[in-house]
Amino acid sequence: MTLAVSETVRALGNRSEEMIRALAEITETEGQITRLFLSPEHKRAAALVSDWMEQAGLTVSNDAIGTVCGILPANNRSSSNKTLLIGSHIDTVINAGAYDGPFGVVAGVLAVSEIQKRGIELPFAVEVLAFGDEEGVRFPSTLLSSSAVAGVAKPEDLEVTDADGVRLCDALKDFGGDPAATAKAARDPDSVLGYLEVHIEQGPVLEAERLSVGIVTSIAGANRYRVTLSGMAGHAGTVPMHLRSDALVGAAELICAINQIAHEANDHGVVATVGELSVEPGAVNVIPAEVVLSLDLRAATDEPRHEAARAIKQAADKIAAKHGLSVGFEQYHEVSTCLCADRFQNTAEKAIKSLGLRPLRLMSGAGHDGQAMSQLTDIGMMFVRCQGGISHNPLEYVEPHDMGLAVEALVRWIETIAEEERAKS
Ligand code: GLV
Ligand code: MN
Ligand code: MN
Repeated sequence: MTLAVSETVRALGNRSEEMIRALAEITETEGQITRLFLSPEHKRAAALVSDWMEQAGLTVSNDAIGTVCGILPANNRSSSNKTLLIGSHIDTVINAGAYDGPFGVVAGVLAVSEIQKRGIELPFAVEVLAFGDEEGVRFPSTLLSSSAVAGVAKPEDLEVTDADGVRLCDALKDFGGDPAATAKAARDPDSVLGYLEVHIEQGPVLEAERLSVGIVTSIAGANRYRVTLSGMAGHAGTVPMHLRSDALVGAAELICAINQIAHEANDHGVVATVGELSVEPGAVNVIPAEVVLSLDLRAATDEPRHEAARAIKQAADKIAAKHGLSVGFEQYHEVSTCLCADRFQNTAEKAIKSLGLRPLRLMSGAGHDGQAMSQLTDIGMMFVRCQGGISHNPLEYVEPHDMGLAVEALVRWIETIAEEERAKS
């Protein structure tokens, strides 16, 4: 790398870190980073991203579902009327790290700013998108913002409520969105050239390989369920153990069974997580009558995931029968394994090689907006190393130097795609 490129990478890394820190300040809980979909903090983060986009010379708007959209028009005489979309999300999990999502938005804004500064001519428009609902933490919906842009969100997806009983459509109105107009967020597939996303790896592979960036080959499929076990409330002092229908005892057994099933299917990359549990009535002296737990199930390919889902349901039926309970699975999210397009993997490889880096290809176990966007257009993803592979944790950390390299790689990736498009016409 020449001295000038190193200097640029250093400056881009430092600016990325400043922008990440500014977004991290916007949180519902002091001392944490928690920014849930359609919360007032999401709205403030969206406003900050809008300002950055305007400063970067983009034409900014918010779509009906709250996605911030910043357009850089094509600037070449032989332009097509297509748009290359670049995005990621600005919502977070509870007590999140600072980089999961925001870095992809920051990288997109900085890359288009560099493209203009360097006078790079592009035969297509570039649009940076800051999505909201990637994490699916507040409402039982996941990837709703990117699904709306992809044209696959359904009106009933807005008819859900959060844990406080707030309806998504009401939260959307308060945010400034328009529940009745979400169909208008959908893009015409013919108008889109593809979708690129830069994201932190959230795993340990790049660090182990001593690489700053990598090329994503595919994103693991996932199911999410709300599982309800129902038994019978009773007096903790009077009902003998063998006459109880204790929903929490059944839930405890089911959680262990889920864990065991995923361990046994580990060779197929199956992972299963119970991350939420609610117990009713929830009193020290009352036998639990109802437990609702969340189940997040993923695998590298689809069939082992379906197989694990079947095994978990069978185990749940057996456990329910043993404890005199009823059990129900409500699936509220399913996304198949999604492949990144060869043309975007290959152009990313050229861009990464041009920086003198080894172009490692790896899959993503984490979910991304690209999964929804793949229903609209070809997608490509680039990963950035994160320390210890730690994510969904306040310890999440990415070196500014790696972020700078990722932004530079993104600029070169867009340039390489432009060269290919010009060669086609
Ligand atoms: C998003 O981070 C997910 O993979 O759950
Ligand atoms: Mn993410
Ligand atoms: Mn995440």
